Amino acid sequence: MALPVREIFGLLFLVIFSAFARIAEAQSKSFLINCGTNSSITVSGRKWVGDLAPNNNITLSSPANAASTTPSSVDSTTYEPLYVTARIFDGGLNYSFPGTRGSYFVRLHFCPFPFDHYNVNESRFGVVANGLKLVSEFSVSGEISRKNAYLLSSGSNLTSFLVKEYILAIKEDVLVLEFIPVKGSFGFVNAIEIVPAVDTLFAGSVSKVGGNGANQSISWRGIETMYRLNVGGSEIDPGQDADLWRTWEVDSSYMITENAGLKINNSSKITFSSANESSVAPLLVYETARTMVNTEVLEKRFNMSWKFEVHPDFDYLVRLHFCELIFDKANERIFRIYINNRTAADNFNVFVRAGGKNKAYHQDFFDVVSPKVDTLWIQLGPDTAAGAAGTDALLNGLEIFKLSRNGNLAYVEKYDSGVTSPRSSKNQMLWVGVGAGIASVAILAIVIYCFCNRLRGKSSDTKNTPARWRPLFLNGSILNSNVNAKGAGSQNPYGSVGSVRAGKRFMLPEIRAATNNFDESLVIGLGGFGKVYKGETDDGTLVAIKRANPQSQQGLAEFETEIEMLSKLRHRHLVSLIGFCEEQNEMILVYEYMANGTLRSHLFGSDLPPLTFKQRLEACIGAARGLHYLHTGADRGIIHRDVKTTNILLDENFVAKMSDFGLSKTGPALDHTHVSTAVKGSFGYLDPEYYRRQQLTEKSDVYSFGVVLFEAVCARPVINPTLPKDQINLAEWAMMWQRKRSLETIIDRRLEGNYCPEALKKFGEIAEKCLADEGKSRPTMGEVLWHLEYALQLHEPWMRTNAGDNSFTSSQVFGGEAEEKEGAPSFDEEAGCSGKSTTRESDESADGGERHEN
Ligand SMILES: *[C@@H]1O[C@H](CO)[C@@H](O)[C@H](O)[C@H]1NC(C)=O
Ligand SMILES: *[C@@H]1O[C@H](CO)[C@@H](O)[C@H](O)[C@H]1NC(C)=O
Ligand SMILES: *[C@@H]1O[C@H](CO)[C@@H](O)[C@H](O)[C@H]1NC(C)=O
Ligand SMILES: *[C@@H]1O[C@H](CO)[C@@H](O)[C@H](O)[C@H]1NC(C)=O
Ligand SMILES: *[C@@H]1O[C@H](CO)[C@@H](O)[C@H](O)[C@H]1NC(C)=O
Ligand SMILES: *[C@@H]1O[C@H](CO)[C@@H](O)[C@H](O)[C@H]1NC(C)=O
Ligand SMILES: *[C@@H]1O[C@H](CO)[C@@H](O)[C@H](O)[C@H]1NC(C)=O
Ligand SMILES: *[C@@H]1O[C@H](CO)[C@@H](O)[C@H](O)[C@H]1NC(C)=O
Ligand SMILES: *[C@@H]1O[C@H](CO)[C@@H](O)[C@H](O)[C@H]1NC(C)=O
Ligand SMILES: *[C@@H]1O[C@H](CO)[C@@H](O)[C@H](O)[C@H]1NC(C)=O
Ligand SMILES: *[C@@H]1O[C@H](CO)[C@@H](O)[C@H](O)[C@H]1NC(C)=O
Repeated sequence: MALPVREIFGLLFLVIFSAFARIAEAQSKSFLINCGTNSSITVSGRKWVGDLAPNNNITLSSPANAASTTPSSVDSTTYEPLYVTARIFDGGLNYSFPGTRGSYFVRLHFCPFPFDHYNVNESRFGVVANGLKLVSEFSVSGEISRKNAYLLSSGSNLTSFLVKEYILAIKEDVLVLEFIPVKGSFGFVNAIEIVPAVDTLFAGSVSKVGGNGANQSISWRGIETMYRLNVGGSEIDPGQDADLWRTWEVDSSYMITENAGLKINNSSKITFSSANESSVAPLLVYETARTMVNTEVLEKRFNMSWKFEVHPDFDYLVRLHFCELIFDKANERIFRIYINNRTAADNFNVFVRAGGKNKAYHQDFFDVVSPKVDTLWIQLGPDTAAGAAGTDALLNGLEIFKLSRNGNLAYVEKYDSGVTSPRSSKNQMLWVGVGAGIASVAILAIVIYCFCNRLRGKSSDTKNTPARWRPLFLNGSILNSNVNAKGAGSQNPYGSVGSVRAGKRFMLPEIRAATNNFDESLVIGLGGFGKVYKGETDDGTLVAIKRANPQSQQGLAEFETEIEMLSKLRHRHLVSLIGFCEEQNEMILVYEYMANGTLRSHLFGSDLPPLTFKQRLEACIGAARGLHYLHTGADRGIIHRDVKTTNILLDENFVAKMSDFGLSKTGPALDHTHVSTAVKGSFGYLDPEYYRRQQLTEKSDVYSFGVVLFEAVCARPVINPTLPKDQINLAEWAMMWQRKRSLETIIDRRLEGNYCPEALKKFGEIAEKCLADEGKSRPTMGEVLWHLEYALQLHEPWMRTNAGDNSFTSSQVFGGEAEEKEGAPSFDEEAGCSGKSTTRESDESADGGERHEN
C-alpha cells in the first residue's frame, strides 16, 4: 500500500514529463497558418503564424501567376481577428508543409468577408491534398447559405465562417495543399490548421450495417468530418478538446422530434473504458446524453431520431459515443440502433460493452449511401426482444465521417445561385457554428497497387483441380491456343499477346471482403458463366465482380479471351477490366462498376423512369462508338458476337459502354465446324446470314445492333412468345412497320410528343439498313454511328423549340443533370491506380477512338 515518497515523485515526474513531451511534440508538428499576412496573432492561447512571416517553415508557391496571391484584409472589428486577412488567388496555389508524415487533422478556415475587387459569392475552387481531392468547384458562400438550418446563435457583430475538417494519413514527408480556382473564378482561404492526430483514432475495420457481422476495412480511405455532436449537452469549443481542437455541436436541431429525447447529465467520475478511447472524444461529451422520455412507460412505440444531410454515393462511418450514467447494473437498458432504416445493432447493452457505469465507450458503423439518397437517419429505439430492459435507449455523442472513393472526397454541390444569407439583415451577419456539420477529417488515401503479374506454375494445381479450372497464364501460352488470329510480334500495336496489361491480380480474400463473402444480396447479374456481384475494394472503388460458376458450360476459354481482350482494349465506351483473380479454382474478373446497369433495364421490365428519346439515342451512339472501336480500332478487328441491350451498360452519367467480351473473337476465321457450337449469340439478335453460312463478320454485329436500335425505341423484348405470331420477333415486326414508313405506330408510348419525327425517321432508316439480309448490304458501324449522330443533331434543336409543351418527365431532368456532371471540369480523375484507363478519353471522335498503348 504505502509507496515510498520518492517513488511517488518518480512516478509523477514520469507522468508529467511524458505529458510535456507529448505536448511539445504535438506543437512542433503543428502548423497554424494565418493566411494573407506576414504578421502572427494569438487566438485562445495558440499562435497563428502569417503565411508570409519569415521562418514559418512552410512553402508557398504560385509560380504561374504572381499576382494571384494578393492578400486582402478588412480592418473591421466585426470579424474574428484570425479572419481579417485572407489569401486570394485566381491561379493555382500550393502550400507545402514539411515533416508531416503521419496522421493529421487538416482544417481549412473560410470567412467570406468583402474583398476589394472580388465578389466573394462568385468564388469557386478545388482543393487537393497530396492527390486526394477534398473539394471541387467549392463555393464557401453557397455552403454557408445551405447550412442556414444549422445557425447556432445570433447576436451583434456576428460573422459567418466555415471550417472544413479532414484527417490525412500522410505517407510522404511533405503535405502539399493545392488550391485550384475554377477557370475564370478565384479562391480564398483565411487560415489553415494542421494538428497531429492520434493513430488509434480509427480502427482498421468497421462493422457494416446490414452486413451480418461483416467488417469493412477503412484503412487508407480519406475521411471528412460531416457532423460532430455532443448529444444532450452544450457546444464544446476547440479549446475544451485537449490537443485535438475539435468542435462538438449541439444536437437538438438535427432531431426529428426533440421531445423524444430526454437530456440527462452527470459529471461524476467518468473514465475511459480503455486507454485507446482517450483521444476519441473528451470526457465532456460523455457527461451528457439523451435517453427516451417517459422511461416509466413500458410500451415504447417510438425512436429517438436524428436526420442529417449527406452527400449521395459515398460511404460513411457513423461513430456513436456512449456512457451509462444512470444504471448500476447490466441488463437495465438494452436497445436497437438503426442507420438509414436498417438495423445496425440490436441487443445493444452499453453497460456490458463499456464494462460498467460511467465508462466512456464508442462504437463505429459503416454504411453506404446510395446515389439517390442524400440523408442519413440515425435512430435508437426499443428492443422488444429484450423484454422490460429493452425499452430505453441512450446516446452521448455522435460523429459522421465521409470516406473517400477512388481518391476523391469532393462532392459538387448545386447551390441556388446568389443566395448567401437570406436571413441576415444588413448590418448583422449570422454566425455559423464552426464545424457545425461542416468540420471534417480525412485520411489521405494513397493506394499502392501492386501489379503483381506473378506467373504461377501449373504443375501441382492442375492435378488437384477439377478439369476446367487451370491456372491462367498471362504470358500467352494458354491464351494463344484458341485464339489463332494473333499477329505474333511487333506488328501488334498492343505488344505481345496477353502481356502484363491484365491489370491487378486480386487475392481471393480481397474479393471475399469486397463482396461480403459473395453475399447473394449483392448479385447484380447472372450469365451463363455465373454471377456478377457488386463489390467495393479496400480503397472504396466500386466494382462489378464476375465469378465463374465452376459448372458453367462456358469455361476458361471464354474467360481467357475476355481477359485478353479487355486488358488490351481501353475505350470510353467499353467497360474496363480492373483486374482478375484466379485462385483455388476460382476464376474471377473485376470490372469497373456501371452504376445504372443495363440499357435494357431502362427500357422495359423495371420501375426505372423511362429514358427520353435523346437519352436512348445517346446510349445507342455510345454503344455504336464502342463497337466501331472494336471493329476498327484493333489491328485486326474484333467481333463482339453478342450485341444486345443487356450487354450495353450505363455508368452513373448514363454513358453507354459495351460489355461482355466473353464471346468475342478476333478476326473472321472460324475454327469450328459444327454449327451448334459455332453459332453463339443471343436469340432474337442473331444475324440470319451468320446462321446460314457460319460466316462471322463485323456485319453480324451490325445486324444485332440494328435489333438493339428497334428495341431502344419500341421498349419491348426482342422475342416475346406471348404476343400474336407476327409480333413475336421484334426484328420482323419492326421491319414490317419500318418498310411501311410508319415505325411511330409501334414505338414506346412514353416517347409520344417528345421526339423529333425527322430524327425518328432517320433512326428507323438506319436500323432498317442494319437488318439487311446480306452482310455486304449492311452499313459499317462507322456509318451507323454517323447517321445516329445526324439523328441526334435533328432531334436536339427540335427539342429546344418544342420542349416544355409536353410532359417534362423526371428522366429528362435527370438526364440534364447527368450531362452537366459529365461535362464538369475536374482535376485528378483518379488516385492513379489499377489497370483502369490511363487514357480516360476526352470526347473522342467517331473515327476510331483511342487505344491503350503499353
Ligand atoms: C510586414 O509587411 C509590412 C507591410 O508590407 C511591412 O511594413 C512589415 O515590415 C512586414 N513585417 C515583417 C515582420 O516582415
Ligand atoms: C520551424 O521549425 C523549427 C524546427 O522544427 C522550430 O523550432 C520553429 O519553431 C518552427 N517555426 C515556426 C514558426 O513554427
Ligand atoms: C502544386 O503542386 C502540384 C503537385 O504537387 C504541382 O503539379 C503543381 O504544379 C503545383 N502548383 C503550383 C502553383 O505550384
Ligand atoms: C460591434 O462592432 C462595433 C463597431 O463595428 C464595435 O464598436 C462593437 O464593440 C462590436 N461589438 C461586439 C460585441 O464585438
Ligand atoms: C468484425 O470485427 C469484430 C471486432 O473486431 C470481430 O469480433 C468480428 O469477428 C469481426 N467479424 C468478422 C466477420 O470478421
Ligand atoms: C443536469 O441535469 C440537471 C437535472 O437533472 C439540470 O438541472 C442541470 O441543468 C443539468 N446540467 C447541465 C449542464 O445540463
Ligand atoms: C451522478 O452519479 C453519481 C455516481 O454515479 C451519483 O452518486 C449521483 O447521484 C449522480 N448525480 C445525479 C444528479 O444523478
Ligand atoms: C489499443 O490500440 C492498440 C494499437 O492500435 C491495439 O493494439 C490495442 O489492441 C488497442 N486496445 C484496445 C483495448 O482496443
Ligand atoms: C427512412 O425512413 C424515413 C421515414 O420513414 C424516410 O423519410 C427516409 O427516406 C428513409 N430513409 C432511407 C434511406 O430509406
Ligand atoms: C424505429 O426505426 C426503425 C427504422 O426506421 C423502424 O423500423 C422501427 O419500426 C422504428 N421503431 C419504432 C418503435 O418506431
Ligand atoms: C452575396 O450574396 C448575398 C445574398 O444574395 C448578398 O446579400 C451579398 O451582397 C452578395 N455579396 C456580394 C459581394 O455581392
